Amino acid sequence: MELAGKIAVVTGGAHGIGRAIAEALIAEHADVVILDLNSDAVSKTADQIGAHGAACDVTHHSAIQQAINDITHDLGHIDIWISNAGVISADPDHVASASDQIWQRAWDIHVMSHVWAARALLPDMISRGSGYFVNTASAAGLLLQIGDAPYSATKAAAISFAQSLAITHGDDGILSSVICPQYVASSMLGYDVDDIIPDHPGLLTPADVARAVIDGMKEQQFLILPHPIVGEYAKLRASDPEKWIKGMQKLRRRILSQTDGIDPKTMHLLV
Ligand SMILES: NC(=O)c1ccc[n+]([C@@H]2O[C@H](COP(=O)([O-])OP(=O)(O)OC[C@H]3O[C@@H](n4cnc5c(N)ncnc54)[C@H](O)[C@@H]3O)[C@@H](O)[C@H]2O)c1
Repeated sequence: MELAGKIAVVTGGAHGIGRAIAEALIAEHADVVILDLNSDAVSKTADQIGAHGAACDVTHHSAIQQAINDITHDLGHIDIWISNAGVISADPDHVASASDQIWQRAWDIHVMSHVWAARALLPDMISRGSGYFVNTASAAGLLLQIGDAPYSATKAAAISFAQSLAITHGDDGILSSVICPQYVASSMLGYDVDDIIPDHPGLLTPADVARAVIDGMKEQQFLILPHPIVGEYAKLRASDPEKWIKGMQKLRRRILSQTDGIDPKTMHLLV
């Protein structure tokens, strides 16, 4: 897809991967709006990168609808919607030990916010015969995030919804891509934007991911894998699920032998 001149919205755009995607889209001459929880953080990032910005908590259907109404009124039809906001949580104990509130938050941010955006935008996009939904899921959705069951389950659901969009609305001229990175040095893993990133194989920067996203969008690629190895793991999981489960059990044992408990903020350097 040609990105120049398009109106693009990035949720979770104040930090990390969302911010980097917004910057990369601006470099492609798109007109970009970032949405995020905290209005000060949104304004600061928007000023720094040359985007528009607004506060929007994507766990509220009405907030997404309001943002869409405002953007359409101020800038025109939305061409590209990037559902990128996300949160992690470490399971406090066994895999079902996270509270209902944590499960619901993961479901709302990683799945329902994608559904609500599509519900609000699809009628206009179908009538125009064009539109693009890009969903930041995760390698955790194709594979698994050991130690975070709500994250893993909802990221898998996010991939499924992106597939529904692509299959059902491809013939309406609507594009859908899903981004499935493994570990990325963002605030989610405890990194600040100016931090020196450890030289660890498999740990990418948000800018690396944004480059893969722009390339994938230009190619209209459905599955965007900034870490190509994830595609190999996904093939193994599909072709030999028994071997894959055993391999993941072994990986979990190894991590537990090297650190106290399972926390994505520490374990990403052990994978
Ligand atoms: N960092 C990684 O290793 C990694 C790997 C795979 C996928 N991802 C996914 O990438 C996406 C971006 O994460 P990131 O790594 O840049 O993390 P990040 O914490 O740097 O950025 C996430 C952004 O989402 C915003 N956000 C959280 N809840 C929100 C809400 N309810 N409404 C609006 N905004 C909200 C946060 O304020 C933050 O700006 C997430 O969906 C995450 O799951 C991250």
